[in-house]
Amino acid sequence: MSAKMWAGRFSKEVDEGVNAFNSSISFDCRMYRQDIRGSIAHATMLGQCNIIPLEDSKEIIKGLEGILADLDSGALEIDMSAEDIHMFIEAELTKRLGALGKKLHTSRSRNDQVALDIRLYLEQEIIEIKELVITLCTSLIEMAKKHTQTVMCGYTHLQRAQPITFAHHLMAYTQMLLRDIDRLCDCRKRMMSACPLGSCALAGTTYEIDRHFTAAALGFDGPCENSLDGVSDRDFCVELGCALSLIMTHLSRFSEEVIMWCSWEFKFIELDDAFATGSSIMPQKKNPDITELIRGKTGRVNGDLVTLLTMLKGLPLAYNKDMQEDKEAIFDAVDNTKLCLKTFIPMLDTMRVIADNMKKAASRGFINATDCADYLTKKGMPFREAYKLTGSLVADCISKGIGLEDVPLEDYKSLSDLFDNDIYDAIDLSSCTMKRKSYGGPAPECVKVQIEDACKILEKYKA
Ligand code: ARG
Repeated sequence: MSAKMWAGRFSKEVDEGVNAFNSSISFDCRMYRQDIRGSIAHATMLGQCNIIPLEDSKEIIKGLEGILADLDSGALEIDMSAEDIHMFIEAELTKRLGALGKKLHTSRSRNDQVALDIRLYLEQEIIEIKELVITLCTSLIEMAKKHTQTVMCGYTHLQRAQPITFAHHLMAYTQMLLRDIDRLCDCRKRMMSACPLGSCALAGTTYEIDRHFTAAALGFDGPCENSLDGVSDRDFCVELGCALSLIMTHLSRFSEEVIMWCSWEFKFIELDDAFATGSSIMPQKKNPDITELIRGKTGRVNGDLVTLLTMLKGLPLAYNKDMQEDKEAIFDAVDNTKLCLKTFIPMLDTMRVIADNMKKAASRGFINATDCADYLTKKGMPFREAYKLTGSLVADCISKGIGLEDVPLEDYKSLSDLFDNDIYDAIDLSSCTMKRKSYGGPAPECVKVQIEDACKILEKYKA
């Protein structure tokens, strides 16, 4: 192990175990590009503000670019005994440039450096996750277009409730995911509004640095307003953690439905063989492991969010080493959300929809009972009375083992004069689905509007 940068203050080398305990390089090494990008902006600013000679700044930038190229190509390996990525890159620069490399850290601290690096790193991840959610929405919309006439049963309390279409169901998930995209954009906007670089350790600096320059060079709206906040703010990690937890929650709810739908009890869908798994003992099994794992990983991503919130809740200003724990949590949330999206999308794209079984399920369970009550109400009976009459009619049908459509007209008429032959059309499964034309409803023309509007929103996000 090489001597520590702070060796001047200490009379002993740090204990091996403490060094390993303290180290974050095993997980912050993934931010090396962002660290170098931040250092280049900082070095440029130091030169322009005459804090170091312009020539020195140019040499330092060249040195940093060389390190970046060598890390990218694999010519240079990250030294895992370094404390963190910031220390490693600075040490490597000094190895290459000698005393010149030691000038880079003028008017800077690892505290503002790490606050910057995480933002730059997460910005890239947000862009990628957003792309994936857009792709998922596009898949859902394409599938919905094919199923605007596919009647299925809508449920409440997992009990058959009222008729909808499969497209209507899919477009509900699309709405959830569109909100997710919006949250990601919002999160990115706030994260990139205030650049922490130049906050230094906590109290700014006596050097005449140009924080507006570095902020602009790194793609921020401007520098953060308060240096203490600059180094101690991790709200953006929490915000992204929330956005990811919600994405996972949506995937998990969808997964739960897929799990039910591919059971023999439902058989609304059949997963492609490439996206299902078998059993080691039961030859007949075809299991929806992917969706179960997504449901499981949702707990883990929620856990990451709780880790972040708990890490922050008792921290005094400004930087505290506890904050090093932010990275594993948010990286885990990011990695797993991406992994789940990347697996869920092709699984969805390849699954077979069994429309017949959806229709069969919809034709049992009296999901046209509301339509029967509405029929009477439209003919003048107060809704509550119609509701009660239909309820006892359903109970009677259950005891006889028939459906509402099997009740003879005389029996209907014996219950109310308002019943006529047109009752059979009113409670016909297909017609009572197609007539649900209220805005946002399942009728094909309404779902088409939902599809068109969602497409417009997606186009905006793609741009
Ligand atoms: N590895 C540290 C982290 O991730 C970098 C900042 C260290 N700052 C310090 N004063 N020890 O938070």
